[in-house]
Amino acid sequence: MPRRILFTSQKGGVGKSTLARSTAVALAYAGRRVLLADFDVDQRTCMRWQAQRLARALEPKVDVAAFSKEKKLGRVEFDYQDIVIDTRGQHDELSLDLATSADVVFLPSSFSFDDVAPTLRVIESLRNAGVPSARVAIVFCRTGGSKKQEQQARSVLGMNRIAVLDAVLPQKDGFISLYSTGRTGREASQSKLRAMALAMDEALLAFIEGTTDPVPKLVANGGSF
Ligand SMILES: Nc1ncnc2c1ncn2[C@@H]1O[C@H](COP(=O)(O)OP(=O)(O)OP(=O)(O)O)[C@@H](O)[C@H]1O
Ligand SMILES: [Mg+2]
Repeated sequence: MPRRILFTSQKGGVGKSTLARSTAVALAYAGRRVLLADFDVDQRTCMRWQAQRLARALEPKVDVAAFSKEKKLGRVEFDYQDIVIDTRGQHDELSLDLATSADVVFLPSSFSFDDVAPTLRVIESLRNAGVPSARVAIVFCRTGGSKKQEQQARSVLGMNRIAVLDAVLPQKDGFISLYSTGRTGREASQSKLRAMALAMDEALLAFIEGTTDPVPKLVANGGSF
């Protein structure tokens, strides 16, 4: 059964397509057979990005396909180990259905309360739909440089017992150029950008592994399986 990794949000423009592409490329670099499933049929951000990637013959190749219905994904997903799903800029019924069958749900948000508040509402709707909280994490993206704002956002989410990845993907013009040319952050030639992107990729993959790894982990204090 392939793993399904979903990016969703209530608000548009928070970084779903950016992080979905990063995740797909990071998984491909890790040697996984991955499909990036573009459920945003209006924008087709991932489809257009793949055309740029193919035009430049960038490696690793990442399969991308557009879908309007979950059923269609079910017909092709068994050719893959991982399905990374990018959804529309609203947490609609389709996104909620996709979330209930996902192994991992990532919710991109900035530090601002304007972004965090709708994210909390999405998490509530996921909980009501029976999605286990352990599968859900917030990912800070398009962030500014304020440590204070980061701490405030983390503390609100901590109080609500919501998982948040340690890494953040700051707002940087350099990322825009990379994604416009079929690349992702880790494929930057500039070392600072690359390091930020790699830290995020690592955090995304670690959360995915932690949520989906069927092998029980040893407890640090000597506990048994
Ligand atoms: N870390 C970043 N630094 C600079 N620009 C970014 C960053 N992340 C995303 N962007 C830009 O912000 C815009 C929105 O990002 P993206 O398309 O990933 O969001 P989205 O949630 O998929 O949006 P939509 O809801 O419209 O599908 C895009 O123009 C993207 O290039
Ligand atoms: Mg998008």
